[in-house]
Amino acid sequence: MDALSSSFLSTFSTQKLLYRTTPPPPSLSPILNVRIEEKPQQTTTTKTTQPISTSTTPPPKTTSQTPSSIRSSSSSSSSKVEPSVPALIFNALDDIINTFIDPPIKPSVDPKHVLSQNFAPVLNELPPTECKVIQGSLPPSLNGAYIRNGPNPQFLPRGPYHLFDGDGMLHSLRISQGKASLCSRYVKTNKYTLEREAGFPLFPNVFSGFNGLTASAARGALSAARILTGQVDLSNGFGLANTSLVLFANRLLALGESDLPYSVKLSSNGDIETLGRYDFDGKLFMSMTAHPKIDSDTGEAFAFRYGPVPPFLTYFRFDKNGVKQPDVPIFSMTRPSFLHDFAITKKYAIFADIQIGMNPLEMIAGGSPVGSDPSKVSRIGVIPRYAKDESEMKWFDVPGFNIIHAINAWDEEDGNVIEMVAPNILSVEHTLERMELIHALVEKVRIDLNTGIVKRYPISARNLDFAVINQAYVGKKNKYVYAGVGDPMPKISGVVKLDLSKGDQREDCTVASRMYGEGCYGGEPFFVARGAAENLDAEEDDGYVVSYVHDENTGESRFLVMDAKSPNLDLVATVKLPRRVPYGFHGLFVAESDLNKI
Ligand SMILES: [Fe+2]
Repeated sequence: MDALSSSFLSTFSTQKLLYRTTPPPPSLSPILNVRIEEKPQQTTTTKTTQPISTSTTPPPKTTSQTPSSIRSSSSSSSSKVEPSVPALIFNALDDIINTFIDPPIKPSVDPKHVLSQNFAPVLNELPPTECKVIQGSLPPSLNGAYIRNGPNPQFLPRGPYHLFDGDGMLHSLRISQGKASLCSRYVKTNKYTLEREAGFPLFPNVFSGFNGLTASAARGALSAARILTGQVDLSNGFGLANTSLVLFANRLLALGESDLPYSVKLSSNGDIETLGRYDFDGKLFMSMTAHPKIDSDTGEAFAFRYGPVPPFLTYFRFDKNGVKQPDVPIFSMTRPSFLHDFAITKKYAIFADIQIGMNPLEMIAGGSPVGSDPSKVSRIGVIPRYAKDESEMKWFDVPGFNIIHAINAWDEEDGNVIEMVAPNILSVEHTLERMELIHALVEKVRIDLNTGIVKRYPISARNLDFAVINQAYVGKKNKYVYAGVGDPMPKISGVVKLDLSKGDQREDCTVASRMYGEGCYGGEPFFVARGAAENLDAEEDDGYVVSYVHDENTGESRFLVMDAKSPNLDLVATVKLPRRVPYGFHGLFVAESDLNKI
């Protein structure tokens, strides 16, 4: 267990928390500085290349050669000033809202529950720190950095907090010549920077802060007051950049779907630097998905955004140089749908209009503004991927098909048929509030674009999500999928390898698996092709499956490298990490040759 110290953390009392459990002072007086600190582990076999400070680490300065399309979040100064009188009043009002008007009652927004075990944030950043390989050896071809994004709230929540509400933190394992070093840094978003300078939270939690009209009105009014008094400047965004990363056009972007991407880079020593909010030379003026798709053959990127007002869906793409092409608004999406991911083929972009969407009636009744509608028939929309408008878009009813993530899609029969593979969430009504009740069944959906006939094939009955493929096969017919085993979601107790070619016979397609062991949980696996740049004729599964795994028995985190071709996903190497890496969302591996181009 981590050694922690924080007066604010002590507001939590559950034994499951990784925090100290001293009772809080019963006061509504403003918390002037709730910055939390984490001490390094007392016993470690690692060597620190830079001293770990128990104080906060200042954000890296923005480079002097910042491209014009990068919007600086704010001043890089980290010096705190005493709160103004309005700030003290607003903080008191915030405490009143969190204590009396909308306290965190439901488990899905109760910080004691949401931030328990290894969902708890690490309490400061970690400069590049050397790690020890404790089993096997890191393959020479594994040369680059595995970087994973995830929520890590800068301040312990005062009120309701959902898993999706945390500030984005990147955990990067730089691997070179068989050695590894870990670095953990916040994405220096506008929200992070303003709140760091203030010393307290300024922005409401988007996912958890607007349940019910009263809470929404109270937090909305407080937010408006902070804006009017200049505490908060929304013109630089309010996103968390906590969901994923993508590399294209020699740019590495940290993504969250409520804002523009943030451009980041790794320095030569493995440190992570936030360059700034990135708007593609002014052409992306609103948010974009955290799951863009990269065609590795063409270098193009495909993306979208969705929202609560028409057009509820907007599709767009970027050419191989990263130049954004014009928006394609999709007005045939007639209701706002929770559209977290999509798929591409060589000819099409594919969207799922699912039963989860904006639900104002539920909100009036005191529920979440995002909810499920069991009367809605799910649809799949198919649009030519180079479409300039939606005139050729077709929609197909696929009842009960509710996906949050897509895995892949491809064309069959000269593009007259498409096949899409994705985890279909059964009991979708639990998606946001009772994730532990989710069961996601991976399906292959085959759509004849001419006849409209839809066929569905179960791939595995297990509870699987956070699935990845060999990135060279995005949009192309592929055979192998590596998926996390929910036990329950969002905890991942192992990884399975699926062979999609078995799906047409209605067999379970699992061909290999590795469970992490009692009390050990990972996250999204990632497939790294072995020597991809030099080995163009390699088999699809010639490579490694990697993941961070945390042992809740010992409080230690590891990085696993598994042989993707072996029937048991044999361990090739295990790296002991110098510090806990919290459970998170999506990551990627960036080869050294690509890191040098960023
Ligand atoms: Fe996702």
